[in-house]
Formats: sequence, C-alpha cells, structure tokens
Amino acid sequence: MLVILKRDDEAISLQAAQLIAGAVHKKPALVLGLATGSTMVGVYKHLVGLHKQGRSFRHFMHENLFAHVNVNSRNIHIPDGTIRGNYDEYCASYENSIRKAGGIDLQLLGIGRNGHIGFNEPTSSIGSRTRLKVLSQETIDDNSKFFAKGEESPRCAITMGIGTILEARKILLLATGKSKSTAVAKSIEGPVTSAVSASALQLHPDVTFIIDDAAASQLTQRDYYHRVLEMTALLTPDRLS
Ligand code: GLP
Repeated sequence: MLVILKRDDEAISLQAAQLIAGAVHKKPALVLGLATGSTMVGVYKHLVGLHKQGRSFRHFMHENLFAHVNVNSRNIHIPDGTIRGNYDEYCASYENSIRKAGGIDLQLLGIGRNGHIGFNEPTSSIGSRTRLKVLSQETIDDNSKFFAKGEESPRCAITMGIGTILEARKILLLATGKSKSTAVAKSIEGPVTSAVSASALQLHPDVTFIIDDAAASQLTQRDYYHRVLEMTALLTPDRLS
C-alpha cells in the first residue's frame, strides 16, 4: 500500500488524473473502474484537460467525463440503479461484463465517511460481489447534495462488491477533508474488518491512497509515508507515473 500525502484537493485531483492518464498511455485499451462523488469531480476535470492537451484517454459520469472524452459508449458500463425485477441476474451480467472486458486494470475509488467503498456499507462481506445494497442513513444524507431539492436521494444502490473491487489489478483511492480522516486512518492503520469496508484494501497487492492533509490528520505514520514516497520516487518511479 502506497500512501501519497498531498496538500489539498487540487493537488490530489491532479496527481490522480496524471496516474490514470499515464496508465492509459501505457495501455490504451485499459479497463478502468470509475467512481462517483464530489472527490472525483476535480479528477475528471483534469483528465478532460489532459485529454484536450492531446493525451489519449479512452475511457458520473457523462457530464463530468464521458461527454468530453473519446470513449465509445459501448465501452461504458454503469450499473442502472433504476431497474426493477431480477437484480441478481442484472448484477451477475454486470460481473460478466467485467470478465468479458478482461478484468479491471485500474479501479478508482472514493471513500465514504463510514469507510464505504463503492456503496459497500459497513458490515459488507469482504468477498461480496456486485449486488443491490441498502444504504445507511449517513450515506443517503451525504448523497442528497447530488439530487435536486425535493428529489429523494436513493435508499439503495447497485454496487460492485468488495470481492469484485479486490480483483482489480490496481486500485487508487482518493480522500479529501477532515470528515474522511477517521475512515482513512481506520482503513490504512486499523485492523481488516467488515466494519470498515476500505480496510479490506490492505489485502490487495497494489493499492495507492492519495489523501490531503486534512484527510490524513489521524494517521500516526505520516513521517514514514513521506519517507516511503521519497524512496519510491528514487527507486521505483514507475509507481508514481
Ligand atoms: C459515495 C459513492 C462513492 C464515493 C463516496 C464519497 O457514496 N458511492 O463512490 O467515493 O461516497 O463521496 P464524496 O466524494 O462525495 O465524499
């Protein structure tokens, strides 16, 4: 697990966009897993910027990203939260589309205040797959900002499972702001537990957290992470580009 500490939201967005653009550059047919949430808006803005500068980028998504970049709509797979009926079948077909694409090369993640990744709320099984998940009140409230006044924020969501996420070859988790600091500290330095879904990322061999000072404020090993970063830049700079 690599922990990249940055000053603020802007620096995080830029670093994440550069890492994603670099991965696409190395593998143009990269299978990319993306995330919604306010943390991602800056990342997508920078990706659009890098794309406009001539870097190829093939892969919330329409208005922040897909409308502005060269992604064939056939290659976009967003679970449709409005379906009714056979959720199991729908979720299994989503898993199948990941397999058919050859698996996810790079999975971008945010984190909820309660430590969720995707919409895997606390107590989600570490082996869980794509499924319909009931949202916690905290998540319903946090997401209400994305919906118009009077419009009800969803109470359930279709989300990739933790097991699905852990199969991505590389994972990038972004977090900003003090409200995420407890979840970040528990995820990186706490025990692996279903009570904090993101702590399951400790089981993955290639995870990078990019977090700002406020989100990092409860980490106890900050000096060490800085030192690791310096050595990474010297010895394995590929991990940072
Ligand atoms: C949401 C989404 C996640 C997002 C997280 C944090 O519920 N499922 O993809 O990363 O919560 O959202 P935000 O970045 O708005 O704080």
